[in-house]
Amino acid sequence: HIPLLFGYDVIHGAKTSFPIPLAEAASWDLDAIEKSARIAAIESSALGLHWTFAPMVDICRDPRWGRVMEGAGEDPYLGSQIAISRVKGFQGKDLAADDAIMACVKHFAGYGAVEAGRDYNTTTISIRNLREVYLPPFKAAVKAGAGSVMTAFNDLDGTPASANSFLIRDVLKKEWKFEGFVVSDWNSIGEIMNWGTAKDRYTAGEQAINAGTDMDMCGFIYSGELKKLVQDKKVSIERVDDAVRRVLKMKFSLGLFDNPYRNNNAEREKKLLNAQAHLEVSRDVARRSIVLLKNEKNILPLKKDIKSVLVVGEVASTKGDMSSTWSGMVDPKKNVTILDGIKAKLSASTQVMYSAGTDPKDETVLKLDTTLRLAEKADVIIMTMGERGWWVGENNSHANIGIRKNELAMMEALIKTGKPLVVLLTNGRPFIINEIAEEAPAVLETWWLGSQAGNAIADVLFGDYNPSGKLPMSFPRSIGQIPVYYAQRNTGRPYKANRRGQYDGTMYRDVVNSPLYPFGFGLSYTKFEYQPPVLSKDSISMDDEMTIKVKVKNVGKIDGEEVVQLYIRDMVASVSQPVKVLKGFRKVNIKAGETADISFTINSKDLSIWDKNMVFRAEPGLFKVMTGGDSDHLQEKSFYLK
Ligand code: BGC
Repeated sequence: HIPLLFGYDVIHGAKTSFPIPLAEAASWDLDAIEKSARIAAIESSALGLHWTFAPMVDICRDPRWGRVMEGAGEDPYLGSQIAISRVKGFQGKDLAADDAIMACVKHFAGYGAVEAGRDYNTTTISIRNLREVYLPPFKAAVKAGAGSVMTAFNDLDGTPASANSFLIRDVLKKEWKFEGFVVSDWNSIGEIMNWGTAKDRYTAGEQAINAGTDMDMCGFIYSGELKKLVQDKKVSIERVDDAVRRVLKMKFSLGLFDNPYRNNNAEREKKLLNAQAHLEVSRDVARRSIVLLKNEKNILPLKKDIKSVLVVGEVASTKGDMSSTWSGMVDPKKNVTILDGIKAKLSASTQVMYSAGTDPKDETVLKLDTTLRLAEKADVIIMTMGERGWWVGENNSHANIGIRKNELAMMEALIKTGKPLVVLLTNGRPFIINEIAEEAPAVLETWWLGSQAGNAIADVLFGDYNPSGKLPMSFPRSIGQIPVYYAQRNTGRPYKANRRGQYDGTMYRDVVNSPLYPFGFGLSYTKFEYQPPVLSKDSISMDDEMTIKVKVKNVGKIDGEEVVQLYIRDMVASVSQPVKVLKGFRKVNIKAGETADISFTINSKDLSIWDKNMVFRAEPGLFKVMTGGDSDHLQEKSFYLK
C-alpha cells in the first residue's frame, strides 16, 4: 500500500514546449518563467506525473558544456531568482493540488564546473568558489520549498557527489535544514566504482547512503545491497529509516496516500495538453527570451508590406530543432517552424522564398548559386546560423562552438548582394560569432524557443514585439578565453579592456579580454537613457537599509521593456572580491518618451561575503553601486557600510 511516485524530465514544458531554460533565463522575466513552469506542471500532472527532475540550477561559465542549455547561465544571483520561480511554478501553492508536481533541484553540486566543459568530468572548485558561485541557487530553491534534490555525476575534491557527505549531510541537510529527499542521478551510485572510491556495488551503496543520498535512481544498488549493509552494521537502520521517512513524507505531501491515482484523469489530459492558452503563453515567453544583439541602421523591425523575403538555413524549416533536447514528451510535428511563422505573419502579397542553403542530403555541400539567384529577387534576407537542436543537452559537449565555415561562406555571399540581411542565431549555448557580429547588419539570438518558436520569432522580426531579452551568459570571442564571465577578480594587475597588443595588466596578446557580448546585454527597438544612481544615504550601518534610485527614460519612439540591473563591488575586504556582482534587477515596461523610477533596497545581508574564515557576513568599508542596462555599461556611486 505504498503509492508509487512517477517522475520524468519535464525540463522546458511537457506537451507544450517552452524555450530551453537558458533562453528563458534571457528573458529575465520571473513571472514568465514561473508561468512556464506552472504550465509544465499542469500538463505533466494531467499526464499522471508527480515529480519533475527540474529545475537544473547548475551555474556554468563554460559554453562548451552542452548542459549549459538546461540552466540559467553564469550568475548565482540571477540563477537563484530563476530557481525560486521555477520551484514555485512546478509546485504551486500546495503540492497535494491536482496540478502540482514536485520539483527536484539538480545537480548537487558543482556539475557546471566540469573541467574543460566536458560532460561527466571532474571538477576543481574551492570551498570559497563553491559557496560564492555554485551553491546559492540550490539554497534558494531549497528555501523556496523544493521537495527533492538530485546529486551530480561529477566528483568534488575527489569525492563523487553521490557519496559526498560534506555536500549532502553537512550543507544540505544540516546547514540548510532540507527535509525533503535526495535522489542520486541516473546510476551515479554505480558510477562511484568508476571514480575509484568504491571497489564494488556493496561499498558504493554504503558510501552513498551514509553520505545522505536517500534514493537510488536506476542503479539498483540500494535494492540489492542495503539489506546486507544493515545486517553487517555498515549502515545503521536509523539512516535507512531516515531515508525512507523522507521519501514517504514527500509522498504524503503530494497527497498520494489519499489518492495514489490522483493524476489519473483522462478528461484533464484531453483538456489541458497543448491547450490553446498554453501555446499562447509559450509564444509570449519565447519572444521575451529573444535577445537583439545588433541592429545597424535600425533595419529591424522589418516592414510587413515588403514585397519579398528570402529565408535561408536548414533550421528555418525544421520542426524538431525548435524544441531542442530534453523535450521527450513533445510532439515535434506540432512545433511552428521559423519559415511558417514568417509566412503566417505576412499577407499573401509578400512572396516568401526559401533555401536551405545546403544540399539536404549533405549539409557540407553549399547551394550557393540557387540561393543567390533567389536573393536577387528578395527585398530582405533572413538567415539562420548556429547549431542544431540536438547538439546541446546531456553528453553534448563541443570543443568547437564557432560558426560552421559553410554558413559563413553563405552569409558573406548573401551580404555581398547588398540586400539587408538579418541573422537568426539558433543555438543552445553562447556561440563564437565574431564574423557575424562584424559583418551582418542585424543579429537576433533566438536560441531554441519551443512549440511556438516560429511565431515568436516572426513577432520580433516584424515589430509586433519589441525585444527585451538580455544575455544570461557572456559570449566569448575565442575558445581560449573560456571561462569568460563578468564577475571577475580585479587581480594585482587589472586589465584595461579592448587594448590589443599593449602590455596592460592581465591579458592575452592575441585577443582582448572582454567577451564579444557581456552578461546582461541586449538591445531594443527603442533606446533607454539612464541617469546615474541616487543613493538615499552616504553610509549605512549593519542594521540599516539603503535605497538606490535610478531614472530610466525611453528616448525612442516606441514602447519597450528594459531590464534595469544593479551591481555591487566591495572595494576592500578580507578576501579579494569580484569587480561587480549582480544584486538586483527589474524588468520594466517604459512607454515611449516616459521615464521609469526604479528603486532597489539593499542591506548588510545583501553586502555579505564569505570572509577569510568562511563566515558569511558583511565587512564594513567602502562599496560601489553600479546601475545600467548591462554588466558593461554602468554608472556608479559609492557609500560606506559602518
Ligand atoms: C541526467 C539527469 C536526469 C536523469 C533522468 C541523467 O542522465 O543527468 O539530469 O534527470 O538522467 O533522466
